[in-house]
Amino acid sequence: MDGVAEDVIRPLREAGEYLRINDTPVAFPTETVYGLGADATRSASVKGIYSAKGRPSDNPLIVHVSDLQMLRGLLEDDKSSQDPIPDIYKPLIDKFWPGPLTILLPCGNKSTLAPEVTAGLPTFGARMPSSTLALALIKLAGVPLAAPSANASTKPSPTAAHHVKHDLDGRIELILDGGPCQVGVESTVVDGMCDPPVVLRPGGVSLEEIRSCPGWETVVQAYKDQSEVGKAAPRAPGMKYKHYSPRARVILYEHSFNRGRTSLTAEDLAETLNKMSDGPQKVGLIRTRDWEAGAGLPLATKAATNGTNGANGHHSSTDTLYEIVATDLHNTSGTILGHVLDLGLGSDTRKIAQGLFSALRDLDGLGADVIFVEGIDDKIDIAAAVMNRLRKAASEIRL
Ligand code: TXA
Ligand code: MG
Repeated sequence: MDGVAEDVIRPLREAGEYLRINDTPVAFPTETVYGLGADATRSASVKGIYSAKGRPSDNPLIVHVSDLQMLRGLLEDDKSSQDPIPDIYKPLIDKFWPGPLTILLPCGNKSTLAPEVTAGLPTFGARMPSSTLALALIKLAGVPLAAPSANASTKPSPTAAHHVKHDLDGRIELILDGGPCQVGVESTVVDGMCDPPVVLRPGGVSLEEIRSCPGWETVVQAYKDQSEVGKAAPRAPGMKYKHYSPRARVILYEHSFNRGRTSLTAEDLAETLNKMSDGPQKVGLIRTRDWEAGAGLPLATKAATNGTNGANGHHSSTDTLYEIVATDLHNTSGTILGHVLDLGLGSDTRKIAQGLFSALRDLDGLGADVIFVEGIDDKIDIAAAVMNRLRKAASEIRL
């Protein structure tokens, strides 16, 4: 840790020490989302993650390492001089580590990992994050850190320290604040121990990037959201598999919705709101590439900038990903149908990924009852990860 200022390193050293001794997890930033870390070799501390998050214990955790030596220490040593890291992963490790990629590895018989990490599976997921703070924390803790995303189970993943505080305040003691996450969606999870190799979760490394590596040319997608969309949508509200969900009801418009039209319109909004009872609704709009601001309605007052509407928002202006602007939607007889909160993430896929979870959380914080989201073409760059999370968050998908 040469050359790192003492006031930066001290809290990390203390957090590393805390992780070795305590059974309560520590929240820390990574380049993807904030993680909730614990010593992956001790059962009591790993159990602390599941209880802080309210996570079902049959969902395995990713093990975070600071270097390859730490990873090799978790793999079976067959006494030959061979590297225990399987060859299939070498090109991926060279290209994407440290970074947003998780690889599945065999646990072996003498694994030092706590069994709770893998939820009884014969494999474990491993990742070397690129965030300097994350790497320093793991190194200072001196042990691999098991860490899921640091949100309450079912909520959108946290991409800022105040998101973690919102979900887990009172359940954990330490949150390391490294500012907003750069990638904004979780790591891509791959399994190279089967033939052909598979992507289990789309994430911060795109399918194309993985496919460009030797041995990975035939990689196939082994997650399901795509086929669900092909079926007769919209899915019935309430039928969703709850995940990544804000409190508000999310209505996702697939990329195909915009075919032959330019934007969601005020009439589209009114049609949905007319079917909802209980007077005027608060409506969030998350726009990406094509929708007009406010569905074409005149925009009135600025409601918030990301991160500033919560009690703990402390972002500098350079962190600003979007502004939230308010307007009202009236019906033909002039009564208010809804209060619209409009937010544009822009057209750049990486920027959309970066702002997505924060946007869902901010609109929730402003009291949105329903959020209309403009989907993007999932073939472009890391859009597969964005659309995967949105399809899971959605109560209804419109094509
Ligand atoms: O970017 C990330 O991956 C973040 C940061 C904190 O590193 N972590 C994260 O963890 O997203 P979590 O627990 O929210 O998601 C872990 C994913 C789950 O989909 C889990 O099922 C899968 O990885 N996973 C972990 N170990 C596995 C295994 N042995 N076999 C199959 N899937 C596994
Ligand atoms: Mg998660």
